[in-house]
Amino acid sequence: MKLTLKIWRQKNAADKGRMTSYELDDVSPDMSFLEMLDVLNERLILEGEDPVAFDHDCREGICGMCSLVIDGTPHGPEKATTTCQLHMRKFKDGDVITIEPWRARAFPVIKDLVVDRSSFDRIIQAGGYISAPTGSAPEAAALPVPKDDANDAFDAATCIGCGACVAACPNASAMLFTAAKITHLGLLPQGQPERYDRVTAMVDQMDAEGFGGCTNTGECTAVCPKGIPFETISRLNADLLKAARG
Ligand code: SF4
Ligand code: FES
Repeated sequence: MKLTLKIWRQKNAADKGRMTSYELDDVSPDMSFLEMLDVLNERLILEGEDPVAFDHDCREGICGMCSLVIDGTPHGPEKATTTCQLHMRKFKDGDVITIEPWRARAFPVIKDLVVDRSSFDRIIQAGGYISAPTGSAPEAAALPVPKDDANDAFDAATCIGCGACVAACPNASAMLFTAAKITHLGLLPQGQPERYDRVTAMVDQMDAEGFGGCTNTGECTAVCPKGIPFETISRLNADLLKAARG
């Protein structure tokens, strides 16, 4: 396939940035999207140009690093997938593909397509933990967990912290990410001691980082590669209300 790539290039955080076009021949439909960018970067390096900086690590949908907005959609046109699991067979010969970084005040651009997502780390640091005595592993049946709660907690725990929910939200809200962590810990007995302090601290941190408020547009769940459901946000709001009432 022959493709035209329109890629956001930005030297550093202070640079204004601009879209730059690149022509790429011989793209195989079997390549992953990131392999296609590798091919472009190899060419740029051979030509003595600065390669395009983009985040990636596991390349198997686990780490949440591959944060690209492709043709206006976080992680691109494939439903429920990460950029690293997107393949070029989703595109056709002659396509023009735009590639941009996550855009949110709380995710400032570091270079080209790489953004700083340490705001997510600080939300976790504010309350995304439990206090538990250390030592040997507890007896498995000592703390029974209802099956439905275990299932919902597990589903919420599959959030990989990619930030696609923020990038898709018109308010750049981090509610789905934060709610996934609140739901994961709040449904388990081990998460109960800090439950209401946790929700208050994490939501305060979310606001302090500059993420917007949730207005129930649902864009977040539509792009979430792990299918975190919208109802997790209702769980967060219910806990926040209980915390406020004491
Ligand atoms: S909720 Fe989904 S989209 Fe948001 S950070 Fe977690 S995995 Fe990514
Ligand atoms: S590179 Fe790890 S999820 Fe895509």
